[in-house]
Amino acid sequence: MEADCMNVVEMKNITMRFPGVLANDRVDFSVKKGEIHALVGENGAGKTTLMNVLYGLYQPVEGEIYINGERMIFSSALNAIQAGIGMVHQHFMLIPRLTIAENIVLGQEPSKNKLVLDRKKAAENVEKIFQQYKFKLDPWEKVRDISLGSKQKVEIAKALYRKADILILDEPTAVLTPQEIDELGLILKHLKEIGKSVIIITHKLKEVMAFSDRITVLRAGRVVETVQPRTRTRTASPMPWSDATSIWSAPEKK
Ligand SMILES: Nc1ncnc2c1ncn2[C@@H]1O[C@H](COP(=O)(O)OP(=O)(O)OP(=O)(O)O)[C@@H](O)[C@H]1O
Ligand SMILES: [Mg+2]
Repeated sequence: MEADCMNVVEMKNITMRFPGVLANDRVDFSVKKGEIHALVGENGAGKTTLMNVLYGLYQPVEGEIYINGERMIFSSALNAIQAGIGMVHQHFMLIPRLTIAENIVLGQEPSKNKLVLDRKKAAENVEKIFQQYKFKLDPWEKVRDISLGSKQKVEIAKALYRKADILILDEPTAVLTPQEIDELGLILKHLKEIGKSVIIITHKLKEVMAFSDRITVLRAGRVVETVQPRTRTRTASPMPWSDATSIWSAPEKK
């Protein structure tokens, strides 16, 4: 099958199983350059699994992944990172006793004589990222002392430090205050403007409408549809994938 070069990500026919569970069932999913793509669906729909496949954490039993039109086979997250993919998990993976800068460079540290961590250099490199992306964070602060919103920015900065062009955020707003959600919105807007692509997993329809260019809906491991949010806001009826227990049954206005 030919890959569409307009897409920075193209996942084709992805099937992923766990014992007794078909988590992804022949899923097609694509992301364009500079696009914010929301991945939505009820609990257990297979959203995180699909993104873990894209991030190289799981190897699908079937299917193909293309990055910028090139076929990729990821056997670990390291392969995915090298291909320009970054992922911020729902539960942050930072080390509380280390500083913000140390957390960001961890695994890719600048060193003095290739032996000891060059703390000053690390902080300088990290400061550059913060300036570039307008993050108001102090590289020297310990991660244990910062808010959840700041921790999330550290995770995003960590991915950007590794030169991610495709950023996956798993339920990024779940831990944030309303003000932090607005800040995240600005970060996403900026990332989009400089041509990065973002995949955002969320349950919250309001955010989907506010942030995303396209929405892909998963249900029971399958793609229900991929749509543009604006075409949906015009329909008066509940969304076709709504169910009584989810927020999808009550579309909100932006
Ligand atoms: N590591 C695993 N081992 C076994 N089963 C798993 C594993 N990860 C996910 N599953 C199962 O695969 C299915 C899809 O799970 P997944 O976490 O991808 O859903 P999700 O859409 O991210 O849900 P949520 O909104 O609750 O985060 C579920 O039935 C889940 O129980
Ligand atoms: Mg999930």
